[in-house]
Amino acid sequence: MSAMIDTSFTLIDGKKISTDIKAEISLKVVERKNQGKKIPHLAIILVGDDGASQTYVDHKVKACKEVGFHYTMMRFADTIAEDKLMKHIDQVNKDQDVDGFIVQLPLPAHITVERITEKIRSDKDVDGFTNHNFGSIISKNPLLMPATPFGVMELLRRYNIETEGKNCVIVGASRLVGAPLSMMLVEQGRATVTICHKYTEDLAAWTRQADILVVAVGKPGLIKGDMVKEGAVVIDVGTTRVEGPQYKNGYSLKGDVEFKEVAPKTSFITPVPGGVGPMTIASLLMNTLKACENLNP
Ligand code: GUN
Repeated sequence: MSAMIDTSFTLIDGKKISTDIKAEISLKVVERKNQGKKIPHLAIILVGDDGASQTYVDHKVKACKEVGFHYTMMRFADTIAEDKLMKHIDQVNKDQDVDGFIVQLPLPAHITVERITEKIRSDKDVDGFTNHNFGSIISKNPLLMPATPFGVMELLRRYNIETEGKNCVIVGASRLVGAPLSMMLVEQGRATVTICHKYTEDLAAWTRQADILVVAVGKPGLIKGDMVKEGAVVIDVGTTRVEGPQYKNGYSLKGDVEFKEVAPKTSFITPVPGGVGPMTIASLLMNTLKACENLNP
């Protein structure tokens, strides 16, 4: 008799977990209000009119409203000079009413992203992009954590997925996701971690070793069924807008994982949308609350 393969898997519901986190944050906001303390205030800087960025920012504003945070939207034309943008950031840095702020990426090509992100006061950097916060991942006292990898760690924690001693393979070495997540999985997760990237030879040979496979590349369908080990946990961070007349809004969000082929082999898998995406926003809210508590105890 051939060996039976278990094709049942658990769908990791990031939308539900983020709703739970938002409920927890709302309670803390009410508590602060009742104690006469300051309500957290998030400011969002959006440069240009990129459709995807606008959608992400709309979701962030909606989330602020849901948990009772104050928020400010600051929009600038994509022709804004770098120095002018730096001046605006400086103003927000000094604004005592703003506890946390983000500059939505990507920025227009004439702007140096690292110069902008480094200008943000690290104790208001609720995206966790600054070198100071990034470095604190490996300190005894982590500060404001990069939002997306923090969201991935929170999903693993809330689904009781063991990371200690596990073989974690991350595909994608980005500054926003892959690199900080590798540090979190080693430091907080006590995992063995491999990072693969576009120069990796024989990607499948690495991904097949993974007990936990995280993919954050932005290439729809990159990970096929035969690249994943039976029983692996698969976290799909990819969200690429694929346009087509068959989609309701003219586009659909696609992950990096070929879901139909891969899911039956896994023990846990995140969908796209509704997996990691909502967790980035939940992390942003957690960081904004933390920044507010630190700045206005
Ligand atoms: N662009 C894509 N993801 C993010 C994010 O998490 N934060 C910001 N600021 N920009 C992004």
